[in-house]
Amino acid sequence: MIQLIDLYKLYKTNKGTVVGVDHVNLHIQKGEIFGIVGYSGAGKSSVLRCINLLEQPTSGKVLVNGVDLTSLSKNELRKARQKIGMIFQHFYLVNSKTVFENVALALEAADTPKASIEGKVKELLQLVGLADKADNYPAQLSGGQKQRVGIARALANDPQVLLCDEATSALDPTTTQAILALLREINRKLGLTIILITHEMEVVKELCHRVAIMQSGKVIEEGSVYEIFANPLEPLTREFISNVLEFKLPDKLWDKLDPAGKVLKLLFRDDAAEQAIISDLLKESGIQANILHGKIDYIGDKPLGIFIMEVTGSNEEIADAIRYLTDRSCIVEVIGRA
Ligand SMILES: Nc1ncnc2c1ncn2[C@@H]1O[C@H](COP(=O)(O)OP(=O)(O)OP(=O)(O)O)[C@@H](O)[C@H]1O
Ligand SMILES: [Mg+2]
Repeated sequence: MIQLIDLYKLYKTNKGTVVGVDHVNLHIQKGEIFGIVGYSGAGKSSVLRCINLLEQPTSGKVLVNGVDLTSLSKNELRKARQKIGMIFQHFYLVNSKTVFENVALALEAADTPKASIEGKVKELLQLVGLADKADNYPAQLSGGQKQRVGIARALANDPQVLLCDEATSALDPTTTQAILALLREINRKLGLTIILITHEMEVVKELCHRVAIMQSGKVIEEGSVYEIFANPLEPLTREFISNVLEFKLPDKLWDKLDPAGKVLKLLFRDDAAEQAIISDLLKESGIQANILHGKIDYIGDKPLGIFIMEVTGSNEEIADAIRYLTDRSCIVEVIGRA
């Protein structure tokens, strides 16, 4: 659906040049929700703005449905852009126009016949849950409602792709959840491909199918959200995930632990997360175990279990226990004090 081939973007400023995007290759499938994560300045917005050519790539290709956007004439590009909607952190609504008029603007800009505008706007406001706010002005709306207007406007010309640049970053957690639920519904109902930029791994976990992690203009790791959470390879990816999944034991607790014991971090993937492996282990082996932390997270609808457990016993018993866990598809890590 969307292919970025060797995408490179160099910004020229009066202080010299800055690399925004450094040879990025990505292939985003039709109908998927694809996340791009990275710290400020990593190049996320630059990539997104190259996808609809708001930013002209310095080199490389942007293919949408096999068509190279960089090769289109102005008029062809204008048409192609109508099939790519975009929403932003700060909404960018026109304050002097009502909710209805803000959405209608996008239709007028695409030369939609006047007669069909009213029906279409009503349908869009219904979809985003704002049917009763058509005559309100942006100043009379909450942040979440403003973003719903942004979404309605972005969907006005029946796009195939929706680009979201930190669309929930200005919203509180409850409103964020509601907007994410709306995006998920739109993805399912309309089969819309969504590319979503965020610095919050929680958002990726909630919504995305696949994710790319960016640093210094490059994609340093990408994969299915489950794989990235279950088996992150790059230190930066681990750092992002640790904000969501990791659990650090308080120092006080470490002081209380048996110096002869070991602290294990156990990761159970897929089916293993739903089996009673720890209780089986305690029945089979001579070790004593004390669970310090445990939770099963659901990513998409797949379980991922993480437990931190203090085990005491002879070295041999502990080694046997680790072997038993590994044989039952558990990933075991012996952790020390942080
Ligand atoms: N118009 C521009 N002119 C010059 N440099 C730019 C321009 N836009 C972005 N950059 C630079 O390109 C790099 C990537 O910026 P970009 O905005 O893509 O990052 P980002 O990952 O979206 O960051 P944030 O999370 O803060 O939005 C940064 O070093 C930034 O300073
Ligand atoms: Mg940005």
